[in-house]
Amino acid sequence: MQTKLGHYTSEINSYSPSSADELEQFRIRFLGTKGIIKDLFDEFKTVSAEEKRVLGKVLNEFKKLAEEKYQTLKERLEAGEQKSEAKVDLTLPGEGFETGGRHPLSLVRKEIIEIFKKLGFNVAEGPEIEDDWHNFSALNFPQEHPARDMQDTFFIKKDAEAGDIALRTHTSSVQVRMMENGKPPFRAIMPGRVYRNEAISARAHCFFHQVEGLYVDEGVSFADLKQTLYYFVQELYGEGTKVRFRPSYFPFTEPSAEMDVSCSICKGAGCQMCKYSGWVEILGCGMVDPNVLENCGIDSKKYTGFAFGMGIERITNLKYEIRDLRLFSENDVRFLKQFKTELI
Ligand code: DAH
Repeated sequence: MQTKLGHYTSEINSYSPSSADELEQFRIRFLGTKGIIKDLFDEFKTVSAEEKRVLGKVLNEFKKLAEEKYQTLKERLEAGEQKSEAKVDLTLPGEGFETGGRHPLSLVRKEIIEIFKKLGFNVAEGPEIEDDWHNFSALNFPQEHPARDMQDTFFIKKDAEAGDIALRTHTSSVQVRMMENGKPPFRAIMPGRVYRNEAISARAHCFFHQVEGLYVDEGVSFADLKQTLYYFVQELYGEGTKVRFRPSYFPFTEPSAEMDVSCSICKGAGCQMCKYSGWVEILGCGMVDPNVLENCGIDSKKYTGFAFGMGIERITNLKYEIRDLRLFSENDVRFLKQFKTELI
């Protein structure tokens, strides 16, 4: 009997059921009415009085061990079941996963496109690697113009005969491509990335984004230009935004102007963003120079047009009060997350 007890004790100690059914088998085998313990007690009755003294104690301890083991296993199984039930509780709300958001420059580009679409402008694109003709010559840049200097332009290939190849310095090159490849009227905006050989700082970057605009038809006047841009600004910054045009110079427009808007942040009262002037410059514009029309095969006696170009970063900075251009390309999620709600 002693040997049998030793054997059963080690069986109980190492027993580990994986289900309530298995545990029930254990209970029946050891603690059931026809189980091992019952048998052992029956056998106990048959041993001598002397043996009973020793065995009685051992047998009772064994019974206690089996009962306690059963109890703890039962509790453990029940707790485990509760846990695994919770894992698959289909009534709980889903955990959800984080979605990305649009980049602020994409949001503003999209907004600009939407506004001009309402005026019948469509969207065109051109290559970022350009030849001298499309980036400079066709746009009436004199050969010695400072914008052609190595300082501003990232050249890919210098070739005096065939013309240099460079990263475009502005989206005005797309105007040329559009006019060369089609017939007037043209009414389009051309968003895209441009490159300039500038030292990177809070206020300058070696690449940024522009939106070019072009409208060429018979009888297009400076008044059309002003009204178009006025409408754009009311839509973008809200009604009541003031505009002013200052005379300026661009090789590809004559006359040329720069347009300022009343500061959308301080409403003209003066703040850091507008350098306490109440005004901020947002774009360059003008009537397309007849030389440019002719360079692109368009009869400048019959057609006139206006063009404009604006920096998307500039407009985004004003809209969201962003003061460092580097934030746009550093991919810092703390910055990007702030635009997350505007997903569409
Ligand atoms: N291309 C000019 C720049 O990058 C911006 C510009 C000015 C574009 C006047 C135009 C324009 O179309 O008419 O600074």
